[in-house]
Amino acid sequence: MSVRPETRLSGIEARSVGVALDGRTVLTDVEVDLTAARIAVIGRNGSGKSTFARLLNGLIAPTVGQVRVLGLDTVQDRAALRRRVGFVFTNPDAQILMPTPAEDLALSLRGRDRREIEQRVAQTLAAHGLAGHADVPASALSGGQKQMLALASVLITEPDLIVADEPTTLLDLHNARRIGDLLLSQNAQVVLVTHDLDLAARCDTAVLFEEGRIADVGEPTELIRTYRRVSA
Ligand SMILES: Nc1ncnc2c1ncn2[C@@H]1O[C@H](COP(=O)(O)OP(=O)(O)O)[C@@H](O)[C@H]1O
Ligand SMILES: [Mg+2]
Repeated sequence: MSVRPETRLSGIEARSVGVALDGRTVLTDVEVDLTAARIAVIGRNGSGKSTFARLLNGLIAPTVGQVRVLGLDTVQDRAALRRRVGFVFTNPDAQILMPTPAEDLALSLRGRDRREIEQRVAQTLAAHGLAGHADVPASALSGGQKQMLALASVLITEPDLIVADEPTTLLDLHNARRIGDLLLSQNAQVVLVTHDLDLAARCDTAVLFEEGRIADVGEPTELIRTYRRVSA
């Protein structure tokens, strides 16, 4: 896959964004421009990280303000955006839709030529250590294998932006590292919501959420220091 620098130029732009869910204010005055390749999103439980992540592929619409991602308005251009943004959930069970890994990956490529699908599914299974599990019940995979499959089902679509909401939270140390390493090695722009501060430190920039607002944006190690101080 080639690096697509034009992706980086458009990045993520939020203008005076507020989100209310079920009448409750969840995000307030979110104003940010993010062009870095790898963006960590950190903050306490309930600070608004997942809501922010879901704005980025149009899963949630801003109640006020505007979000543009890859140059697309997340409301008006939602269909086009969904084709270019991949979303990785914390729990892979939310993402694995088909009975077997091979079928699940093929679903991500639906509409394409059958031969191309077969080839790319086989390549992707092999690249992610799942070649021997192509046709086993997905429900029988380990937690680490399930999350690898869920991530592979996103990567196979070659998204320009990958948004991952605590993708390593349910994993053991070994699998957390594999998934984290894989995410951070992508050519696509990556937004990584995480409580793993070592992983966040490896990103190019970080966003700190506090009580539904962006408290700070900047160099990850400095933000993490601030976050540790306010959380103590
Ligand atoms: N559908 C909803 N209706 C009402 N409040 C919600 C809804 N979803 C999330 N919230 C609230 O919004 C706040 C931020 O949630 P969230 O974005 O999930 O935070 P985080 O991912 O940082 O833990 C929390 O207080 C949460 O309870
Ligand atoms: Mg969350």
